[in-house]
Amino acid sequence: MSRVTGIAVIGCGRISRSHLAAVSSQPELARLIATVDSDIGLALDAAKRYGAQVALDSVTDALARDDVDAVVICLPNHLHAPVAIEAARAGKHVLVEKPMADNAADARRMAEAAREGQVVLAVAQCRRHFRAIRYLAEHHAQFGRLISAQVSLGVYWAEAQAAWWREADKASGLVVALNGPHVLDFVQMVMGDDPLRVHAEAVRRNDFWAGEDEAMMLLAYPHKRLASVHLSFNQKPVENRKVLVFERGTAVIDNDTQLTFNGEMLVRQGDDEQRHYLDEAVEFQRQFREFALAIAGEPNHSVSAEEGIRLMRTLDAVHEAMRSGRTVELEGAVKDTESADAVP
Ligand SMILES: NC(=O)c1ccc[n+]([C@@H]2O[C@H](COP(=O)([O-])OP(=O)(O)OC[C@H]3O[C@@H](n4cnc5c(N)ncnc54)[C@H](O)[C@@H]3O)[C@@H](O)[C@H]2O)c1
Repeated sequence: MSRVTGIAVIGCGRISRSHLAAVSSQPELARLIATVDSDIGLALDAAKRYGAQVALDSVTDALARDDVDAVVICLPNHLHAPVAIEAARAGKHVLVEKPMADNAADARRMAEAAREGQVVLAVAQCRRHFRAIRYLAEHHAQFGRLISAQVSLGVYWAEAQAAWWREADKASGLVVALNGPHVLDFVQMVMGDDPLRVHAEAVRRNDFWAGEDEAMMLLAYPHKRLASVHLSFNQKPVENRKVLVFERGTAVIDNDTQLTFNGEMLVRQGDDEQRHYLDEAVEFQRQFREFALAIAGEPNHSVSAEEGIRLMRTLDAVHEAMRSGRTVELEGAVKDTESADAVP
């Protein structure tokens, strides 16, 4: 990689610190030009702490700068699509926080703007960059074919962690939009296919937000594979566990940092992986490096806009299943009857 990329981080709230640290700690890749937040106090604090050249309260002003080559979007969910499109049209590469958008239609518009602007659009699915997850992505063939995935991500919040969490239209619902992308992106990665069918149930147990805070879903994949997903904002202690049944045994991933196969420890949590994901986490450095490789046109593990659109289609199906109480079939997915080893 030859060129150092000028970066503006847009949105200086909870998740921004991990992105800001990732940019400022890799001077060989990037220079932090601007911190941007409609709350100028937050932008100023971030600029001071991470050494940005300028703090701004306007996205448009950041996009007008020639020294900004790329933006990292850390805004509330409903602003991902409009700001990513504005950035791509201004010729800036985009790394957008998850969820990529509120729905697949918006995600497609974002990808289209990136294509037209000839810029990279990558989705910040940070968990792909945890060492145990990378190990699984690179070594799962040795475990035999995948049979099923059971994924749980349960955390406990006694109140909304950001004001926009209280409004269902800004948070695109709640737990499914906030933590669904983490787990469903993982399932998409291991399955390598889109689901055929989605069943989902969701409820809201707390009145201090308007969206669902507890959800379960079942997904059927081609070649007789199944996945179950549990998401909770009501679970203590925290549970972050992935159980994958393969032909040759069972892989268990805890906290995205530790991987066992048939009880044998294959990946241990690294000393550098102790930090909370909101606290200048090392995984965000790896994620940013992959984004820089994508900008340089080199092989990389960034989550592409195309993968992001596929994930948004699955999330749309989950939301539709939650709303209707019915099973949702995904259009265009390979049908069971068409797959070689379909149930007779
Ligand atoms: N990868 C992860 O693990 C992870 C964790 C937390 C949040 N996130 C994602 O990051 C995004 C941000 O979440 P957060 O928790 O940091 O939220 P936050 O509310 O703490 O931060 C958002 C910031 O955006 C600013 N903002 C709002 N509208 C703006 C505008 N029009 N122009 C400029 N600034 C504006 C707000 O002032 C706020 O400081 C969300 O999409 C969320 O899903 C990802």
